[in-house]
Amino acid sequence: MSADTADRHGTDELSGRRALVTGGTRGIGRAIVDRLTRAGATVAYSARTAPQSGHATELFVQADIGTTAGVETVSQHVHDRLGGVDILVHTVGADGDQHVPLLHQTDDIWQLVMDVNVFAAARLDRALVPGMVERGTGSVVHVSSLSRSMPNPNRVPYGAAKAALSHYSKGLAAEVAPLGVRVNSVTPGFTESSWGRSFVRALADRAGTGYDEARTQLMADIGIPLGRPVRPEEVAELVVFLVSDRASAIVGAEHVVDGGSKPTV
Ligand SMILES: NC(=O)c1ccc[n+]([C@@H]2O[C@H](COP(=O)([O-])OP(=O)(O)OC[C@H]3O[C@@H](n4cnc5c(N)ncnc54)[C@H](OP(=O)(O)O)[C@@H]3O)[C@@H](O)[C@H]2O)c1
Repeated sequence: MSADTADRHGTDELSGRRALVTGGTRGIGRAIVDRLTRAGATVAYSARTAPQSGHATELFVQADIGTTAGVETVSQHVHDRLGGVDILVHTVGADGDQHVPLLHQTDDIWQLVMDVNVFAAARLDRALVPGMVERGTGSVVHVSSLSRSMPNPNRVPYGAAKAALSHYSKGLAAEVAPLGVRVNSVTPGFTESSWGRSFVRALADRAGTGYDEARTQLMADIGIPLGRPVRPEEVAELVVFLVSDRASAIVGAEHVVDGGSKPTV
């Protein structure tokens, strides 16, 4: 997505809005931070480790969002620095331990994927959505995954956690829409984020091939009619549309951005 295309909708359509993006230092979350900022929003963001140099750090908060204490740290930061948020994007996800047979997936793995993919969203929403309800306006986006509806034997805990997140997201949408808050979910397919690149590198290492070969093989295995992975910026474009007034009647819907990978209707 070129800057020109994005700017067609006005660079300041989110001017005056306060946003929080979890997982905003890399990958899809970083692209969302950049795109919201370009749209005029004031954007706080979180991660466990500090952002690369060159990124504004004034509104960055360091915390593990998979813990109750981490969520409290992030929501307190947002209350202290911004007085609340109008836009909340929960981007962080956790994949658990791939290539472990399901009967060997431990409680720790299950707990991690549930904590990061589901409980973090529910805890953050509990902390920040009441402020939106009080003001009678706000928008929330939960980042899910195609794995939620396409079970992969190697990633069942992750897919199950994302399925729970999608279910939760739909439920919350129905509860708060009459109060002025819109909730939606965004479901990326294979996206060449930092996580996506690490995934390909791991496949290449296991197969003893180079990055490009492993990437081509992965795309063939997934089946991507578009012929390439999704770019983080393309997920961000969808998120910014959903939180903008252009999406004012879109509520409780799952939006897939996957280059056509999902084979079902
Ligand atoms: N990439 C894909 O192909 C793909 C496909 C479908 C869905 N998704 C979903 O898209 C979302 C973003 O994925 P991505 O590919 O952009 O990942 P990424 O490139 O690995 O970026 C993850 C971001 O989240 C932060 N993070 C990770 N664990 C955290 C934790 N416990 N607490 C706080 N921050 C944490 C990371 O920073 P720190 O490590 O410093 O904490 C980083 O900022 C996830 O929900 C993922 O499930 C991705």
